[in-house]
Amino acid sequence: MLQRLRRLRPLLGSAALVALPVLATAADSPGSTPWPTGAPPTDAQLAALVDDALGLLSLERFEEFRESKEKGEDSGHSTVFQEDIDAGRYNADELFALGDAVFGHEFRAADGYADVQAVVPGRRIHDGSRGALDTFSCAGCHSVGGPNGAGAATQNAYLFGDGSHQSSTVIRNSPPVLGLGMVQALAREMSLDLQRARDAALDQAEASGDSVLIQLRTKGVEFGTLTARPNGSVDASEVTGIDADLIVKPFGWKGQFPDLRRAIEDAARVHFGIQSGPQTELHRDGPMPELLGDGPDWWDPDADGVQRELEEGSLTATAIYLATLEVPTIVPPSSAALRDRWAHGDALFDEVGCADCHTRSLGLVSTLWNEVPDTTGAAPFVVALFHDGEEPKGTPKVNLFSDLKRHDMGPELADPHTDTDHPNIGAQTWLTRPLWGLAESPPYLHDGRAATIPDAILAHGGEGEDSRDRFAALPASDQSDLHVFLLSLSRAPKLRAPL
Ligand code: HEC
Ligand code: HEC
Repeated sequence: MLQRLRRLRPLLGSAALVALPVLATAADSPGSTPWPTGAPPTDAQLAALVDDALGLLSLERFEEFRESKEKGEDSGHSTVFQEDIDAGRYNADELFALGDAVFGHEFRAADGYADVQAVVPGRRIHDGSRGALDTFSCAGCHSVGGPNGAGAATQNAYLFGDGSHQSSTVIRNSPPVLGLGMVQALAREMSLDLQRARDAALDQAEASGDSVLIQLRTKGVEFGTLTARPNGSVDASEVTGIDADLIVKPFGWKGQFPDLRRAIEDAARVHFGIQSGPQTELHRDGPMPELLGDGPDWWDPDADGVQRELEEGSLTATAIYLATLEVPTIVPPSSAALRDRWAHGDALFDEVGCADCHTRSLGLVSTLWNEVPDTTGAAPFVVALFHDGEEPKGTPKVNLFSDLKRHDMGPELADPHTDTDHPNIGAQTWLTRPLWGLAESPPYLHDGRAATIPDAILAHGGEGEDSRDRFAALPASDQSDLHVFLLSLSRAPKLRAPL
């Protein structure tokens, strides 16, 4: 099922997207543009929005009818070859539409869904790193609050278990997947800053013959200290909130994925048993049976008879799609009385120390993102973060409400055991969750244990304990004001006709 209706430029040379008749009927309205916040849409805007919503509905219906007439059509539409992207056969709009098709695609046996070696159909308790069969599509979990949203408690994932007992797992709630292009671009710039500082310190240590101690700081966020030694080694034992490789990994509750490609690849594998082409090639060079299986042929490690289950090009299209989706936005209340309370809550957010970790904004230097292929060695596909894809985009001063750093949040928030894929990240260590879009993404915290925003705040411990205590000590009306402010961290309203 499609998530989004894009105003496509003429689909020149696009083999995968045959001209869809319904596109023509909806193609003249102004796109999935949100209406101005604080005021209802004008009649003309409303007519365009209704037109859009109905256009998407008929497109979805059309796709379903076509799929039932010609089985496998839908898979054809979500399969993209990297070589075609490398040859310049697609523009950003087309890749967005293809990524949308992957995100809504219901994976099935013909795609390589499941894994004859390890995964029992319908099993939700993950079997080690091999995963389970949670549902059939990405949209099947990322749907609360609108397309590409979060997951309800019933959409939680039960990771790294024994395949049978829920108590053996670590529980994760699905976060929304909006604005992620900005997030990975910020993380990349921060990593480069830190690595440049380390390399300069190493040069200085070598030249002087003495160890050099540096403060690690990028975009106003502190990551501890590092010592460079004259022999070219580094002491990273005082580095905080990040791995010793100084790569800021902004995705996943523990901050374990460096970029969208790896997060998408992992999602397809652990939720559907769909294995990516690039990961299978890595398996050829250095077998990873615990992740992929030990089937006799390297090109089909899970031995289900399907190879290249997620084409590299499909991975690229999905990464570009997620990188250029709408960005969450701040929607203050329209009533004057609430507006005052909202402004007070805004100030309290700083006063009680929330902004110490939930950094209001991080500044992006470059507004271009290079989506680099994994295996072909071709030039990257360049994404214009503020132009390609959907509105709204916000500004290069990205209102993320996160420092993209990991913190020790105390024993109450600890996992019952360490996540076997990331033993280096402590059980009670979590990435500061970005708060943008917060209002639309309940329930809260890594395992979805908090039904409300105040419940989530009161569960903070460890490095967040002081701030939590200050919040808890506020008079009830101040707590409500902060809550009003946090509820304005939202997403632009859009109209959708239900199927
Ligand atoms: C069973 C529900 C489920 C399905 C299906 C699912 N996800 Fe997720 N998604 C999650 C959970 C849970 C997390 C958090 C994982 C973690 O922190 O370890 C997540 C995290 C992500 C993230 C990182 C977001 C962030 O800000 O940290 C991305 C990107 C993502 N998913 C994309 C996808 C894509 C693409 C698909 C389809 C291939 C998909 N997901 C399918 C549940 C799901
Ligand atoms: C020490 C750093 C730190 C401070 C200070 C802090 N937080 Fe957090 N916050 C985090 C981390 C890390 C998480 C993720 C924890 C988890 O999922 O277990 C989080 C999660 C949250 C969540 C849940 C988000 C979601 O999508 O599930 C909310 C809401 C929140 N914080 C609000 C606040 C507010 C309001 C304050 C101030 C009273 C605050 N935080 C102070 C680090 C911090």
